Amino acid sequence: MRTIAVVNQKGGTGKTTTAVNLGAALGERGKRVLLVDLDPQYSTTSWVAARPVGRGVFDLFADPEGTTLSGLIHPTAVDRLALVGVSAWLVGAERALATIPGAETVLRDQIRSLGADPFDYLFIDCPPTLGVLTVNALTAAREVLVPVECHVMGLQGLAQLQQTVALVRKRLNPHLHISGVLACRLDKRTNHGPEVVDQLRARFPETYRTAIRENVRLAECPSMGVPVSAYAPASTGAADYQALADEVISQEGKEAYGTIENE
Ligand SMILES: Nc1ncnc2c1ncn2[C@@H]1O[C@H](COP(=O)(O)OP(=O)(O)OP(=O)(O)O)[C@@H](O)[C@H]1O
Ligand SMILES: [Mg+2]
Repeated sequence: MRTIAVVNQKGGTGKTTTAVNLGAALGERGKRVLLVDLDPQYSTTSWVAARPVGRGVFDLFADPEGTTLSGLIHPTAVDRLALVGVSAWLVGAERALATIPGAETVLRDQIRSLGADPFDYLFIDCPPTLGVLTVNALTAAREVLVPVECHVMGLQGLAQLQQTVALVRKRLNPHLHISGVLACRLDKRTNHGPEVVDQLRARFPETYRTAIRENVRLAECPSMGVPVSAYAPASTGAADYQALADEVISQEGKEAYGTIENE
């Protein structure tokens, strides 16, 4: 099972859009995918949950001994896509967890206890912070996928993110690496968008060849409760996430997916 944290501490870069649409596209290719929503804004949960998830992942942190991750897995309306949902309860947990020693490893321990690979991919949709919830995701995952908005401001904060990844790798998770940087919300009608993609590729060799173009269908599909492939299969948004899924699958079996040196 590939475990991939979808991380960028900047808000609105395309983390949730990517977690859901990439997850769904992988499902369409026969992969079994689990989405774990770790964001107290619960955007992934309200997008794909087929039924109420209760307090969801909050219970893992509030009562780690009495809760199992497998008990929190819900099916979605999307083939081969399962969800561990979250609720606004998690807002309070983030503050409480910051004071508890060992809180960084709660999610990792739970994922380990899932047992013999029931999924091919596990994506963790992270909140736009580098707090204890994101550190939980970075401790639990092997790979980091970083969606970056194609604006000048989009490049800001990436150095800090690299430092956090390096720190977690040193202290908590020696296998962690950035396996993909994803250019999101690309507007090819401006000079500016493609310029940012060039800068991103120069700085991060592991930037995916696929860039996700700005497409209104991507913004609309969450309110329909379905991924873009179901809502607008002929859209550029659907095509981009299909291409990304193929690229992500092509990384399978390689020792290290990325080349970024975070130290
Ligand atoms: N390629 C795109 N084209 C058009 N709209 C997009 C695209 N990608 C994302 N959006 C829209 O931009 C907004 C932010 O995207 P998204 O929620 O995926 O970002 P996020 O990084 O998860 O945000 P947060 O940090 O708040 O969790 C959403 O309204 C989403 O529908
Ligand atoms: Mg989000």
